[in-house]
Amino acid sequence: MEALLSTPVVQAGMGGGLSRHELAAAVSEAGGLGTIGIFAPRALGEELAAARRLTAKPIAVNLLLPFTRPAHWRVAAEADVVVTFWGPPKRQVATKWLHQCGSLEEALEAERAGADGVIVQGVEAGGHVRGTIPAHELLAAVRPRVKGEVWLAGGIAEAADVRAALDAGADAAVAGTRFVATEESGAHPGYKARVVAARETMLSEVFGLGWHARHRVIENEAVRRWQDKRWLGPVQRATAPLLARVPLAAQERLAATQRPGSPLLSPAPALAGWPDRLLETTPLYAGETVARINDVRPAADVVRDLTP
Ligand SMILES: Cc1cc2nc3c(=O)[nH]c(=O)nc-3n(C[C@H](O)[C@H](O)[C@H](O)COP(=O)(O)O)c2cc1C
Repeated sequence: MEALLSTPVVQAGMGGGLSRHELAAAVSEAGGLGTIGIFAPRALGEELAAARRLTAKPIAVNLLLPFTRPAHWRVAAEADVVVTFWGPPKRQVATKWLHQCGSLEEALEAERAGADGVIVQGVEAGGHVRGTIPAHELLAAVRPRVKGEVWLAGGIAEAADVRAALDAGADAAVAGTRFVATEESGAHPGYKARVVAARETMLSEVFGLGWHARHRVIENEAVRRWQDKRWLGPVQRATAPLLARVPLAAQERLAATQRPGSPLLSPAPALAGWPDRLLETTPLYAGETVARINDVRPAADVVRDLTP
């Protein structure tokens, strides 16, 4: 990792417009690795080009494999690093490639598929969660078995967390939630404020329209109303293959129409400029680090503060 970054701090790719070129470029310019989250292919290419205009440093692109089309790979091939999430992992481009994993089995599968490395995601992580055990436990299981790089995701909010990850054998540490609460993130200001105010998060499957998968969020009205409805999961699972074919941009427009009283809750998070009422009906993705995040800062300051 030393050759690519001057500090072993990676900003997680966050989809739905949360991590765009402004955030990724600011992180990379500060010496970390900034990552652009998934967009429709053309918009993803524009985001990467915009980031290149802001920094000459490396930029990563994140692809959520359930939504990835061949055109996404053509864009990702232009990035310095591509990080994938959700499987099955498969090498598609010559670019340096890491796959985010939630288990040892998945890490070994990614290595067999030709990945240059893996990200071990702990259950404490924010957003969609593949991990079922704490990140350090997974790191201890994966590190001795994988030859490539291993980055750790989950629980990273301060320099001491990055230090602990490196001491335990990780090559770099990945933070998502800490970067939601930055000036450059695309999150709605009310979402950032809730990350700062919250002290706890919960695992949920409520925002599963089109993508039925476990996610860690801060509680809001939609979660309170629908969390215990056992029929919701099977309905979302049954309709997901169809809805996953709806273009990402259309899914985001759909999210803007959500009401807490309706269980049609998509995974798209509330962005700056969206109506405030959507803070109660869209996912406030966040990890357990919310307990230690107390401010919204410029991303470069966050990179500096995370650097051990
Ligand atoms: C708001 C948010 C959105 C996320 N979106 C994505 C995504 O689009 N792709 C991805 O690979 N991981 C995504 N993640 C998960 C991160 O890659 C990473 O595992 C997680 O942020 C680490 O935990 P932390 O948020 O506590 O730092 C997201 C996380 C958050 C908090």
